[in-house]
Amino acid sequence: MKLNIEKALGNNAKYQEMLKLAQEKFDTLTAGTGEGNDFLGWLDLPTSYSDEDIEDILNIADRMRQLDCVVVIGIGGSYLGAKATIEALRPHFGKMDTEMIFAGHTLSGNYHAELMEYLKDKEFGIVVISKSGTTTEPAVAFRLLYNEMKKRFDNETIRDRIVVITDENKGALRTLCDKEGFDDFIIADNVGGRFSVLSPVGLVPIAIAGFDIEEMLHGASLAQDICLENNEKNPAIQYAAVRNMLFSEGRKVELMVNYNPRLSYFAEWWKQLYGESEGKNGKGLFPASVSYTTDLHSLGQFVQDGSPILFETVLWVNDDSDAPVVPHDNENLDKLNYLEGKNMEYINSKAAEGTMNAHVAGNVPNIRIEFDAVDEFNLGYLMFFFEFACGISAYMLGVNPFNQPGVEAYKKEMFRLLGKE
Ligand code: PA5
Repeated sequence: MKLNIEKALGNNAKYQEMLKLAQEKFDTLTAGTGEGNDFLGWLDLPTSYSDEDIEDILNIADRMRQLDCVVVIGIGGSYLGAKATIEALRPHFGKMDTEMIFAGHTLSGNYHAELMEYLKDKEFGIVVISKSGTTTEPAVAFRLLYNEMKKRFDNETIRDRIVVITDENKGALRTLCDKEGFDDFIIADNVGGRFSVLSPVGLVPIAIAGFDIEEMLHGASLAQDICLENNEKNPAIQYAAVRNMLFSEGRKVELMVNYNPRLSYFAEWWKQLYGESEGKNGKGLFPASVSYTTDLHSLGQFVQDGSPILFETVLWVNDDSDAPVVPHDNENLDKLNYLEGKNMEYINSKAAEGTMNAHVAGNVPNIRIEFDAVDEFNLGYLMFFFEFACGISAYMLGVNPFNQPGVEAYKKEMFRLLGKE
């Protein structure tokens, strides 16, 4: 992975000041002396698995893969890491061998009605993920689908088809899991939801989808090596420094940009990571995302020319290996022969370069992150990198990266309206 911040740097003295602060906050994070320091278990996840741990996950994944489809139930950090990885790695078109369906991330009645109808004649399994074991959205979805299973299958079959990922001791899901003897994986106390993609929360569904979790951990462990060096070249320190500098200069929104639709859910994962970790005490950059060139024909106008509140963080993939080449056309009615012999990804790269030049000239600072391929290794690398940078960045801002007090407000109101005791 290569981080390029040249086109985001204006005032070098300010950046140097931020770099120094980022290095101080690196120490706060790694020494565990900051707020929320009982949630630092994710720092060790890439290298925390024994061969037996991996084998346990792969064995259960093999069993679940025999089914027509697997419904992964979870929300927030118990959903987005797996969703982002699977969406990035699955083929653009057609179904996967084992269809992966997500539920419990919405309360839409219509979504669940169609889901129940769809599963009616399917051999389906459930992976239910909730650290607290009490979150309403996944709990309701699980009740619906478990009820459906109980109508159709005997106890032994159900036991073969349900996997629970939750806290070791607490919560309604733990109680049910212990009572029914479902296979389970534990979410450690010191790993919060949005930092849990490299725990069983992410790895189990990703393995069921047929992707290589060892390669993902391998990528993450390389990022771990690089991120854990406290020096000015550390890309996590640089990224945290530059985004805090831009925030202090009045930028309010960080726009994650991709030029490959595979990465649009990666941006959803990133948005949760930064939004929930930093958006508190009246502070924080608002994390938003766009897919270019698609959104250059919608939001592009605002980015170029609207309120100067944005900067862009572009994910660029250096891989044109399967890109089709523009063919020659004798008639050239579409006037595209000037592109003859060029592959689509080359055209995409020129669109990206041109967009960067135009946006930078239009006063939109630009951070660029390049990597070689959308694969397990690079996704694992990027996820650890963004998590680590997030910890530093939130401490620079002066907030606890690991809590989410603001999420409780809507729940309280919803429960009052629903008459929960
Ligand atoms: O990052 C977080 O902590 C949250 O987004 C949680 O993951 C989300 O609220 C789901 O919580 P739980 O896993 O307890 O159901």
